[in-house]
Amino acid sequence: MSDSPKPVLEVENLSVRFPSQRGEVAVVDGLSFQLRAGESLVIAGESGSGKSMACRTLLGITPDSSRVDADRLDWKGQGLLALDRAGWNALRGAEIAMIFQDPAAALNPLITVETLISDAIRQHRGGTRAEVRARTIEALSRAGFPEPEFRMKAFPGELSGGLRQRVAIALALSCEPSLIIADEATTNLDVSIQAQIVELLRFLQADLGLALIFVTHDLGLAREIGGDLMVMYAGQAVEYGRVPEVLEDPCHPYTRGLLRSAPTMASDRNTPLQPIPGTAPRPGEAAGGAPFRARCPVAMERLCERENPGWTRVSDTHRVACHRFAAEGRGGVQ
Ligand SMILES: Nc1ncnc2c1ncn2[C@@H]1O[C@H](COP(=O)(O)OP(=O)(O)OP(=O)(O)O)[C@@H](O)[C@H]1O
Ligand SMILES: [Mg+2]
Repeated sequence: MSDSPKPVLEVENLSVRFPSQRGEVAVVDGLSFQLRAGESLVIAGESGSGKSMACRTLLGITPDSSRVDADRLDWKGQGLLALDRAGWNALRGAEIAMIFQDPAAALNPLITVETLISDAIRQHRGGTRAEVRARTIEALSRAGFPEPEFRMKAFPGELSGGLRQRVAIALALSCEPSLIIADEATTNLDVSIQAQIVELLRFLQADLGLALIFVTHDLGLAREIGGDLMVMYAGQAVEYGRVPEVLEDPCHPYTRGLLRSAPTMASDRNTPLQPIPGTAPRPGEAAGGAPFRARCPVAMERLCERENPGWTRVSDTHRVACHRFAAEGRGGVQ
């Protein structure tokens, strides 16, 4: 839409490389995406596909041995790659906050919930003691933490997994960021708590106008979150589109495989699950051709070995990187 606001996040040709015995290898390889305020992006893909590493570049927390490059990595028009330590510290938490996979590991067990959150607020926003306390209680209640005035004296270890995850969300919300990155934030929770946390994130996003990046293995959760969906394989985006488009009309053989192997798809209840045969390539192994070629049921011998497919347009908002689709359309990837 021409009247939609400028994206808050603009990423073009992002890569993260590590040195290895075989030379430098890319674990994130040529990602491009944009995100507007109040919108969400779901990043899905198997373990090791580079989802977390891509998110880490947005907080400047990739490992020291990594090399991050991009034609553009802009937050509200500001180039992130040029930030120094002070610049990152001002941005992290205050503008962009991340909720990690394992709340137990992310929360310091030796300090109370209240201290944890009020320290973050004091650091980024300041304020009098009374103001900081009020903001702490507000962040906890927004995150659905029950009776925060009384229970915020607890240590993380005294709380259930679901409540710890709410504390992690409150911590992310405490400085009123514009972008929240939830990296497998619900993976360790049981299904009913997972649904509550997903609903909470969606509510907060709508209520506070936040941008949200939601990382998951579970394409069923993508449906709950909505927005755009980027499917990653071996560090690359292989399909990108609005969530319903991609889930209802998957055009990449990998996306189709993921859907067939997912236990959450309502349409698949009567058909047995089919895991994708083979294993994901090690970093660097898939370079050069189509990244999924070694496991792809419709790979084309020479083309997919040699040439990385560029994007083929499916609709204005949906694109796929697949030689077979480019050559034969949907019929070729059934
Ligand atoms: N410090 C490091 N040095 C070299 N390679 C690394 C390092 N950390 C991670 N990697 C590699 O980067 C790749 C991407 O890892 P990443 O954690 O982003 O995957 P992921 O998609 O988030 O997986 P998961 O779903 O398991 O969380 C993996 O192959 C991993 O082995
Ligand atoms: Mg990860």
